[in-house]
Amino acid sequence: MKLTFKTLQKDHALAILKWRYTYPYDCYNFDANTVLEDLCYLLDPKNAFHAILNPLGQLEGYCSFGADGQVLGGNYGVEALDLGMAIRPDLTGQRHGEQYAKAVMKYGAARYGAQFLRVTVAQFNKRGQRVWEKLGFEQIEEFTKIGSGEKFVIMTRAV
Ligand SMILES: CC(C)(COP(=O)(O)OP(=O)(O)OC[C@H]1O[C@@H](n2cnc3c(N)ncnc32)[C@H](O)[C@@H]1OP(=O)(O)O)[C@@H](O)C(=O)NCCC(=O)NCCS
Repeated sequence: MKLTFKTLQKDHALAILKWRYTYPYDCYNFDANTVLEDLCYLLDPKNAFHAILNPLGQLEGYCSFGADGQVLGGNYGVEALDLGMAIRPDLTGQRHGEQYAKAVMKYGAARYGAQFLRVTVAQFNKRGQRVWEKLGFEQIEEFTKIGSGEKFVIMTRAV
């Protein structure tokens, strides 16, 4: 399926803020009490959020390129394009992750002229890690997020 990417618009962001993942992925849900703050974050150009759209223009996921993909405490000394990605809750768990991640990689590398790609994924999220692993990403670091104690892994691959 041909997926397209578009800079995230307010209507996309408002839809995403209502998405609800079930446990243990509910940590990816936005908080209903911080809608304005989260809206500003999603629309902030420095986070480079993009909508992932199907051929009918329907929102199937979103992704980010750069700052949003980094977690406090990780070693980001090497130059690389940080990717962040999530697909709509009803589309998860059906082995679709790889096709979205592949499209995100391809779009990001071309749009930002990246030579090296990097993802930071929660350690518990083996499903997320597996998607990137299948696309050739390798784990290079495991660390604890400063201030929260949550564990994350960093995975990279060359373009
Ligand atoms: C992360 C995400 C993109 C994965 O896409 P998905 O379509 O749900 O995942 P898939 O169904 O393709 O599963 C990917 C792989 O993980 C495996 N998997 C699923 N649950 C697993 C688990 N609990 N432990 C280990 N592997 C698991 C699947 O079997 C599959 O591997 P395989 O193809 O080798 O069998 C999607 O779930 C999502 O957007 N989640 C919410 C946000 C999120 O997790 N963000 C972090 C993104 S890195």
